[in-house]
Amino acid sequence: MKHFLAVVFGAAVVTLVSAAGTDGAISFEYHRYEELRKALVSVWLQCPTITRIYTIGESFEGRELLVLEMSDNPGTHEPGEPEFKYIANMHGNEAVGRELLIYLAQYLCNQYQQGNETIVDLIHNTRIHLMPSMNPDGFEKAASQPGEIKDWFVGRSNAQGVDLNRNFPDLDRIIYINEREGGANNHLLQNMKKAVDENTKLAPETKAVIHWIMDIPFVLSANLHGGDVVANYPYDETRTGSTHEYSASPDDVMFKSLARAYSMYNPVMSDPHRAPCRKNDDDSSFKDGITNGGAWYSVPGGMQDFNYLSSNCFEITLELSCDKFPNEETLKSYWEQNRNSLVNYIEQVHRGVKGFVRDLQGNPISNATVSVEGIDHDITTAKDGDYWRLLAPGNYKVAASAPGYLTVIKKVAVPYSPATRIKKLK
Ligand SMILES: *[C@@H]1O[C@H](CO)[C@@H](O)[C@H](O)[C@H]1NC(C)=O
Ligand SMILES: *[C@@H]1O[C@H](CO)[C@@H](O)[C@H](O)[C@H]1NC(C)=O
Ligand SMILES: [Zn+2]
Repeated sequence: MKHFLAVVFGAAVVTLVSAAGTDGAISFEYHRYEELRKALVSVWLQCPTITRIYTIGESFEGRELLVLEMSDNPGTHEPGEPEFKYIANMHGNEAVGRELLIYLAQYLCNQYQQGNETIVDLIHNTRIHLMPSMNPDGFEKAASQPGEIKDWFVGRSNAQGVDLNRNFPDLDRIIYINEREGGANNHLLQNMKKAVDENTKLAPETKAVIHWIMDIPFVLSANLHGGDVVANYPYDETRTGSTHEYSASPDDVMFKSLARAYSMYNPVMSDPHRAPCRKNDDDSSFKDGITNGGAWYSVPGGMQDFNYLSSNCFEITLELSCDKFPNEETLKSYWEQNRNSLVNYIEQVHRGVKGFVRDLQGNPISNATVSVEGIDHDITTAKDGDYWRLLAPGNYKVAASAPGYLTVIKKVAVPYSPATRIKKLK
């Protein structure tokens, strides 16, 4: 696995990295809002050429929704380079993911400076966005409780009392109707941007994330939670409305593979003998550390399915700890359990098929449709005509089409990794 990026992209540019730099020890502690900001700034100061801090908006109480970007060209989408995101702490009291993303930023910066080839390749060939907290108000509320033991619910919602992982437009309901009556399975928000802006039921945090998803051509994502230990994949909402029901998406095979790419490197998550977090928990849908969302329990209005149904982005949901807000002394062990998974999951963004759709003169065609025979879920090209179609290993027929052009169909064989380039998909 270690060198697979170099196979696609040629020689790694390790020589550019100076040997100097701090050894950058990670300090395993909780970060309150101001400390979180300082931690991100210190990563930026340590690795200024590959990082950028930006904000996608503000929480209800006016805290910034901070993102640390890591890429060889921070601030720009490079044509052909896939975009990846991690979002944590959308439930403010689920604190482990928030800390893991801070440690991940520090780790990637340290390893980059030390010339670790895997990390250098990853950062040179991927634009990575890390949002440690989507719900900074909730976190402050949860963290303000005195003592080590935190309440199971305090701080889960945003400051308005909105559960952000139930607050996204419920696109599942639309595609379940479309499945019966005909209609699209993708890009359902295409002409609904104004309706989103005017929707008063959406929390400011939700709106900010919706705009982020619409503005950046993300390919792959995960949202980090706590309260259990499993990698959960779409769909989260069941077709019939029943509480437990396997709810496959058209990309079920790939989603399982993505969820496993996370769970298999986490020894606790993938342990077949792991006891349930609580004696009465129903983990019967868990297998190899993964579960279909609906099979576990139905969630309407979640962020994961929204990504898949509104954009090109595939998202899974990671449950990382039985305790939502565990003792500070345990944070290091959570990092050790999750480090390889966190890095390996980012690398999955390079799987499948990718390329450009251009006209015969070589001009990029944006918003062209890339479809795969047998999978009812289309991807569209980004501004520069670039696209990424995550696919499990196998043989596929891929078609590119755009209004006013002849459709082109190519046969491709997708190996496990990395992404296969289709030379001419015009
Ligand atoms: C380089 O990074 C990879 C991915 O995190 C890790 O598995 C490997 O141990 C690192 N190599 C060194 C020499 O630290
Ligand atoms: C993209 O194409 C679809 C149909 O192919 C169309 O409905 C939509 O408005 C287009 N979006 C943009 C931003 O041009
Ligand atoms: Zn959660």
